[in-house]
Amino acid sequence: MARFGLFGLAVAGSVQTALAGCKPHKPVLSCSAEAESGLVDSCKVETFGGLVLSTQFWDTYTGLESEGQLLPANSFTLHGLWPDFCNGSWTQYCDFARQYDPKPDPNTTTGKPDGVPVPPYTGPSVDTFLTALGHPGHKLLAWMNKYWIAQKQPNHQLWAHEFSKHATCFSTFAPSCFSHKDLKKHQDLLTFFDVSAQYFKFLPTYDWLAAADITPSNTTSYTLVDIQSTLASHHDGQVPYLGCSGKRYNETEAGKGSLDNGFTALTEVWYYYHVYGPVQAGKGKPVGADINGGSISSCAKAEGAVWYYERAKGSERKA
Ligand SMILES: *[C@@H]1O[C@H](CO)[C@@H](O)[C@H](O)[C@H]1NC(C)=O
Ligand SMILES: *[C@@H]1O[C@H](CO)[C@@H](O)[C@H](O)[C@H]1NC(C)=O
Ligand SMILES: *[C@@H]1O[C@H](CO)[C@@H](O)[C@H](O)[C@H]1NC(C)=O
Ligand SMILES: *[C@@H]1O[C@H](CO)[C@@H](O)[C@H](O)[C@H]1NC(C)=O
Repeated sequence: MARFGLFGLAVAGSVQTALAGCKPHKPVLSCSAEAESGLVDSCKVETFGGLVLSTQFWDTYTGLESEGQLLPANSFTLHGLWPDFCNGSWTQYCDFARQYDPKPDPNTTTGKPDGVPVPPYTGPSVDTFLTALGHPGHKLLAWMNKYWIAQKQPNHQLWAHEFSKHATCFSTFAPSCFSHKDLKKHQDLLTFFDVSAQYFKFLPTYDWLAAADITPSNTTSYTLVDIQSTLASHHDGQVPYLGCSGKRYNETEAGKGSLDNGFTALTEVWYYYHVYGPVQAGKGKPVGADINGGSISSCAKAEGAVWYYERAKGSERKA
């Protein structure tokens, strides 16, 4: 397995086209006319889920604090790396042979009763595969237990969920892109987790917001557009999707009578890319969450309507 050269990812949008010394061709960009499975090697160019999302959570607790599952100080957590179709729609649980999710969510491929039921996985948890891979597995596992944190379920369940629901829908992570020997050792899982981590490391949301004086607070609220413009300024001017939960603004004291029914607690950020060459190479070209004309946020838009809450006491790991 080649190492991942994450050069140029999200570096002010300037994507380096190739490693020095070997650049006969510019790698094909996903979602471009050339990026079709009949025209290119689908292991080398993402031809299935070419709109790639690197997603993050802002949780204030894990629910498993008593077991030591804590949130990292001064950092969002990794949610996943997702393959959307170029038109913005998407699919999930694309390969039951790689189904490691003990609690499939949704429990059918379409999320509807008439979809194909996704069989719950009952084998050893995916962290044991990483452990069996020796040093690289141990090293990655330590990182994942710090930054890839689940809520109300053990971390390894979230990792299995992300792999089986999403990684199975990338052409560049298909079993045919790995050797038989690597597949047997679950090297494909390690690769996907590692690549997801690499994308995340280029997207220090917490630091970007802090530099603009947007820090977690239970007494000061923020305005959506300020958060959007701050993050876009680090993503080649392209706005990421911002997800909120909690109360709707129109149902809060401050928003009484308002027609703004967006949610008020910031919980997710999704950065969108088209990618040059395999997703593993980490050469992303930032694109806006509005590339397909869809919603770019579920958060309330009113002035000062968004809360970026402090973590609960005892939920955060000491820095
Ligand atoms: C979006 O693209 C996918 C994959 O090519 C296709 O299956 C789906 O029908 C398209 N959806 C829409 C709404 O065009
Ligand atoms: C999926 O979950 C729903 C809601 O909990 C349940 O009613 C349904 O029976 C489940 N379907 C399968 C295939 O497990
Ligand atoms: C707030 O908006 C939601 C969703 O549009 C709506 O169902 C609800 O009735 C509204 N609440 C108030 C108090 O207006
Ligand atoms: C901040 O508010 C959030 C959301 O209500 C809460 O979960 C958290 O415990 C609070 N943190 C502190 C330090 O008070």
